[in-house]
Amino acid sequence: KHVNTLELFGQTYVQDEWTNIPATVVDKLGRNLHNQKHHPLWLLKERIKDYFYREFIGRCHKPLFSVHDTILPVVTTQQNFDSLLVPPDHPSRHHGDSYYVNAKHMLRAHTSAHQRELVSTGLDAFLLIGDVYRRDTVDRSHFPVFHQVEGMRLFSSQQLFASVTGSGPAGLDLFEAGTRTPSKQESHSLEAAHLVASNLQHTLKGLVHFLFGTSVETRWVPCTFPFTHPSFELEIKFDNAWLEVLGCGVTEQKILHAAGAGDRVAWAFGLGLERLAMVLFAIPDIRLFWSNDARFSEQFKVDDIHQPIRFKPLSPYPPLINDMSFWIPSGESFDDRDFYELVRTIAGNMVQEVKLIDEYTQPGSGRHSRCYRLVYRHAERTLTKAEVDLVHRAIGDAVETQLGVQGRG
Ligand code: PHE
Repeated sequence: KHVNTLELFGQTYVQDEWTNIPATVVDKLGRNLHNQKHHPLWLLKERIKDYFYREFIGRCHKPLFSVHDTILPVVTTQQNFDSLLVPPDHPSRHHGDSYYVNAKHMLRAHTSAHQRELVSTGLDAFLLIGDVYRRDTVDRSHFPVFHQVEGMRLFSSQQLFASVTGSGPAGLDLFEAGTRTPSKQESHSLEAAHLVASNLQHTLKGLVHFLFGTSVETRWVPCTFPFTHPSFELEIKFDNAWLEVLGCGVTEQKILHAAGAGDRVAWAFGLGLERLAMVLFAIPDIRLFWSNDARFSEQFKVDDIHQPIRFKPLSPYPPLINDMSFWIPSGESFDDRDFYELVRTIAGNMVQEVKLIDEYTQPGSGRHSRCYRLVYRHAERTLTKAEVDLVHRAIGDAVETQLGVQGRG
């Protein structure tokens, strides 16, 4: 019997009904943009490292935070979900949300997937930078591959309380057998939860001020993650709108316990590099990070990583707009993201955005129709109408053959 296999980083994986990684995504594996010297993502990574190196000195004048940026992106679903207490029925596990190698392995959807293993090795403070993979919409700020920085810091009772009393734990405890409230976990004392959360917020606000200057406006928004409580998002004001830049919180004690660090408390954060780099360097389109065009990369070749950079657009190429409508047979389910991915697979870098612009259900038959607007615009060159028409027709054919829908002339 013939089995299909997938070869990733020298490992062979047997494909199954969960396998859903298109060749366009496999192509990105190993590119490691965050490790390419002078790439804007590398530059931002270096600035973030520099903040943590300057601000936090450990024993023997060594940096407190260790940096890990070569951990491979193929992980088990256990690492990506279970190790972080993501419940079995959590929506983030849906097949349509992530890229699966097979039922057991996937491309990490976040760098948090490595929290438990790094804590298990005995680390007390670390930054982890890596590529992450999500099936998502098509627009200027979304791409199936992006990059995150994960940060985590653990505190012993001594370390946490020394900062307030100046003399070590003065009758203060990290833990108590209590109840979970909006501001703390059941096993944490209120003092411990407050100190960890305020250390976290102080650290991250410091980072944002280091990157954007102290005049940037920020705000904390309460939110939830299965692996932290309490949890927050940090937003910054940019172009008069609030932009979410990171998620963070006080690590669930169960995770530390499972990693052999149950005597400590911790915070963790996860930050998207592209978002931040787009704002910091005024990069208008996320696809540019993948560009091989020297007119892009040359702009980031600076001797001093802190030198201010404002990206000068290569030149605004005109968009070509084409709509596409099709019927979805009644009773069939249809996932937008299957369509988006097919568009990416066929049109590659030619499509800037796909928008659902109209929906309609035929009263009698229950047949459902959808109309999408495809904005064709390459980030690096002008497209011709002929080449766009060709690609648009190929997409139209593929939706019929691969997604089982019926084109509407
Ligand atoms: N992993 C979360 C995400 O990708 C971010 C996060 C990391 C939140 C660590 C809390 C703690 O959205």
